[in-house]
Amino acid sequence: MERWQTIIEPFRIHSVEPIRLSTKEERQRCLEEAGYNLFHLHADDVIIDLLTDSGTGAMSRDQWAGIQRGDESYAGSPSWFRFRDAVRALFPFKHIIPTHQGRAAEKILFSVLAGPGKAVPNNTHFDTTRANVEATGAEAIDLSPSHAPGARLPFKGDMDVAALERLIAERGRETIPVVFMTVTNNSLGGQPVSMANLRAVREICDRYDLPLFLDACRFAENAWFIRQREAGYEGTAIPDIVREMASLANGMTMSAKKDGLANIGGWLALDDDDIAERCRDMLILTEGFPTYGGLAGRDLEAIAQGLSEVVEEDYLNYRIRSTAYLGEALASAGVPVIQPIGGHAVYVDARAMLPHIPPLEYPGQALAAALYVEGGIRGCEIGTVMFGLRPDGTEVAGPMDLVRLAIPRRTYTQSHVDYVIEVVRSVAERASRLGGFRISQAPQRLRHFTARFEPIA
Ligand code: F0G
Repeated sequence: MERWQTIIEPFRIHSVEPIRLSTKEERQRCLEEAGYNLFHLHADDVIIDLLTDSGTGAMSRDQWAGIQRGDESYAGSPSWFRFRDAVRALFPFKHIIPTHQGRAAEKILFSVLAGPGKAVPNNTHFDTTRANVEATGAEAIDLSPSHAPGARLPFKGDMDVAALERLIAERGRETIPVVFMTVTNNSLGGQPVSMANLRAVREICDRYDLPLFLDACRFAENAWFIRQREAGYEGTAIPDIVREMASLANGMTMSAKKDGLANIGGWLALDDDDIAERCRDMLILTEGFPTYGGLAGRDLEAIAQGLSEVVEEDYLNYRIRSTAYLGEALASAGVPVIQPIGGHAVYVDARAMLPHIPPLEYPGQALAAALYVEGGIRGCEIGTVMFGLRPDGTEVAGPMDLVRLAIPRRTYTQSHVDYVIEVVRSVAERASRLGGFRISQAPQRLRHFTARFEPIA
């Protein structure tokens, strides 16, 4: 590393998209029309869009070149072979099954493996993963230990291995079709999982003869944290760390919209021939022929190139530092955030910031709405709205009430982030005057996407 303090974006801007600057009055009106749900906004009415880091990143020159080279043959396209080889270079599984995004891989895998009476343990399921497990009639069980949001532990994404053993003992191994590990742990704050924890989970899976799968959406960010924080990996190349993570698993689901650096895409990969065949049958039914899944040849090219860029050290150093820059600035302004700062996002602890709003009046939703009206920033509630509705229709407080400010990859500059810091600080100063919400309309499942809200007077 050079001696300079400033870590620059390791790229120049090649094509720009205009941002429309709206007024506070316009945004107030837009929010009301959207039923106070930021998913219902017109994205042109957003100034800085931190809703997600999924599919929202900027592609590189070489990815756009790959798009031009994309071969759209229905079967056996050269783009498919480039994609397959790029995936295998990092994740050497026997079967690589392309899908249109991560949840399609989850849907296919769980419809083959799960079902009524089954239970799928995960360090922490993301919302679509949980919903896809539950849609088969199975139970999705989170096994991360609960840590204080401010506790600065290096691998807060880890699974509680004792809890996994207890679960297997209580339920019986035959009820558990697969054990999942989400890297990084999105719902708990973009927190990494250590290699030691992956190894410990692997040992238990070996003992009970259970397959272990990675939900690998943010594998490169996880590998970077392992290199920064875990003894013995200081000098290890990122691709080698990724391959070691893969070597502990029997398969993976992946959303290429995150660490594939692409706008769409994903895959399911695994070693087991029989399960792979059943998954491919399902793939043909719902996604497409096995050499393109739900993707165009050009998408396969963009992902193949993205996989070589996402493991570059200068990229990961910039990526992880620029997320920490936002989080550390908010923390030093007294805004409660999950510590340490995660890889792809800063998670503001809305429950701590708005103690006067009870969880069932959705403090995360209140904060997300205020950030939008104040400065046109769109974050995402990860709390009681997202996780509080149980399959039987009853409602409970989510484990935490967070607002995630997710950072799209290679998209915003430091001055955009400085603006976000200013807006969040200004909302924090008048936090005690914000009010809660009630839900006026919501679906049975994944309600955070489409629910409509009303402010509680
Ligand atoms: N697993 C994790 C850990 C995720 O974060 C996501 C998506 C998925 C699976 C599903 O992938 O969107 O390609 O179908 N997370 C996005 C987010 C949506 O905003 O965190 P997908």
